Amino acid sequence: MAKPPLSMKPTGWFQVAWSDEVKVGDVHRMKYFDRELVAWRAQSGRLTVMDAYCEHLGAHLGYGGHVVGEVLQCPFHGWQWNHDGRNVCIPYQDRPNRGRRIRTFPVVERNESIYIWHDVDGRAPYFDAPDVFASFGDGSSAADYYPQMRLYRESLELHPQYVLENGVDFAHFKFVHQTPIVPVFTRHDFDQPISYVDFTITFEGDEDQTIDDVRSGVEAINGGLGIAVTKSWGMVDNRTISAITPVDDRTSDVRFMVYIGRRPGDDSARAEAKAQEFGDEIIRQFTQDIHIWSHQRYSDPPALAGAEQQGFTAIRNWAKQFYPDGIGGSAAEVYAQRGRAE
Ligand code: FES
Ligand SMILES: [Fe+2]
Repeated sequence: MAKPPLSMKPTGWFQVAWSDEVKVGDVHRMKYFDRELVAWRAQSGRLTVMDAYCEHLGAHLGYGGHVVGEVLQCPFHGWQWNHDGRNVCIPYQDRPNRGRRIRTFPVVERNESIYIWHDVDGRAPYFDAPDVFASFGDGSSAADYYPQMRLYRESLELHPQYVLENGVDFAHFKFVHQTPIVPVFTRHDFDQPISYVDFTITFEGDEDQTIDDVRSGVEAINGGLGIAVTKSWGMVDNRTISAITPVDDRTSDVRFMVYIGRRPGDDSARAEAKAQEFGDEIIRQFTQDIHIWSHQRYSDPPALAGAEQQGFTAIRNWAKQFYPDGIGGSAAEVYAQRGRAE
């Protein structure tokens, strides 16, 4: 894959771990957005995500740093840092260094995931991370579903925008996922940082059916470029979360989560096995996409069929707002300028 012409430092909420990977007292190492980071959980359960390096002499807090009550203690000289990244104790001096601060990131835990807010300009969050249940406003909760099933693929050469573009790409369903007929989009709403896409789709029947016969579909909510949640209707009840997080300027980590609905009153092992099978199938379909994305080159401007124009133009214009240069969604403009300058 060519290095994407789109910025790998977009603004928004991005998944950096699952909540159960950072238990009370744990210090968890991560690399995202080209930064070494740690996530640590205080005795109270409060979670902090911050830069990994101690502001004293630069020890990496992920190698031997440990949680002491509500603070993180550096392994090198024992300086202690709090939830805000402030130094609160130098063990061999009567006062802490009040001026120094380790960069911390706004963090939320939702749907068993840890999301951080990333913004190169340090702006506060201006939209909310979507919730696979609450965001659909239908009163559903995790209790209505079997436990979350997960896929985790590390350091793939792909950009988060490729994944979201699936949300307007009706033609790929037939070729990548072998749906019998091409789905039809019924909603494209790209007015806000949270966008909405609905489509009618079926995985059953043959090529002879028409889309008007189809009584099933998917509703998707994209929270910026990092997180998308979906809800199905008219088929086996399932919800999904896809979360793509840039690691450096070439690669991203991909996390995909699936929930299969419980059938009220049926707690049988057979129903659970069926759910497991169905969840595996949805994950398998997502890996078909990953296979394409991880070798794809971003095409801009793309050659589009007439029916693709509207959706791709809308999503690419929408994506621009998340890039530091404000033009990432249309790299062609950059190339055009460069061409003139040369
Ligand atoms: S480097 Fe962290 S306390 Fe010295
Ligand atoms: Fe897909």
